[in-house]
Amino acid sequence: MLVGASALCLVGCAGQQSALDPAGRDAERIAHLFWWMASGAAIIWIAVACLTFYSIRRPTAAMSARQARLFIIGGGALMPTLVLAGLLIYGLALLPELLAPAPEGSLRIKVAAEQWWWRVRYRLPEGGETELANEIRIPVGEPVEFELESHDVIHSFWIPALGGKMDMIPGRKTRLVLHPTRTGVFRGVCAEYCGVAHALMAFDVVVMETEEFTSWLNQQSQPAAETTEPSALHGREFFFANGCSACHAIRGTTADGIVGPDLTHVGSRMSLGAGTVPNEPGAFIRWIQQTDKIKPGVHMPHFRMLPPEELHALEAYLESLK
Ligand code: CUA
Repeated sequence: MLVGASALCLVGCAGQQSALDPAGRDAERIAHLFWWMASGAAIIWIAVACLTFYSIRRPTAAMSARQARLFIIGGGALMPTLVLAGLLIYGLALLPELLAPAPEGSLRIKVAAEQWWWRVRYRLPEGGETELANEIRIPVGEPVEFELESHDVIHSFWIPALGGKMDMIPGRKTRLVLHPTRTGVFRGVCAEYCGVAHALMAFDVVVMETEEFTSWLNQQSQPAAETTEPSALHGREFFFANGCSACHAIRGTTADGIVGPDLTHVGSRMSLGAGTVPNEPGAFIRWIQQTDKIKPGVHMPHFRMLPPEELHALEAYLESLK
């Protein structure tokens, strides 16, 4: 039963959002540190448990005063000092490497935290920037530097499988360098309580082969795809008629709102609502109708009053924005 229970616990340590299933150099270092700390704690716990057991069971004859003093100094002061100093030195020694800036010419991505989503800006190789939201793609095997900022309250940027977390503080820029070591899809989260939808402020992270990444970034920097599909064309009309463009931008159209996430390629994203709804058929409709139910506290109002044909047309339009 114990084996079953531990297996169950360890299953929770694998996967997209686990610091103990590292997919980056920094996460590997942190995972090692964790295992050293956990082992140190386990050794101390076992030693204390054994001593407790011994002191209960030992013959009643009292220790000599000298023995007792040695025991207190050795077990109560010397051993914890040595073990904790060892772990502290090991932990501090990791810092210079984890905090080192990325080499000149590395990929740089600006991420701004908003309540409760992520504004992502890529610096393009040919100059200029392109804005995306709630999804970060990076090439494998190369360092990437994130420039982090916040527009409202303190958030914290964390991709557990790739590395440590970094606070995002209004009025300041912080930096985090990550080194992804294998391709895959991971989940990033906000690790600092920032308001009512804090737990619903996630993002998808895709680590790709370099070539694949380059063509993805090139595609994402283009203006929105022109649709010819009748339902999507209707959806585009409804998008402007309902005022969606006041908050959202779609490059290549007159929609240039900056309050909400950029939607130029929203149809290609893995999830909607900052990691709250998988982008599958029907997801846009559910999101538009029930923003307040899916993500309590969200600033986007719900549009429950829209007739079904308008919702379907809006979905067709947003899905066409690949
Ligand atoms: Cu943003 Cu918690």
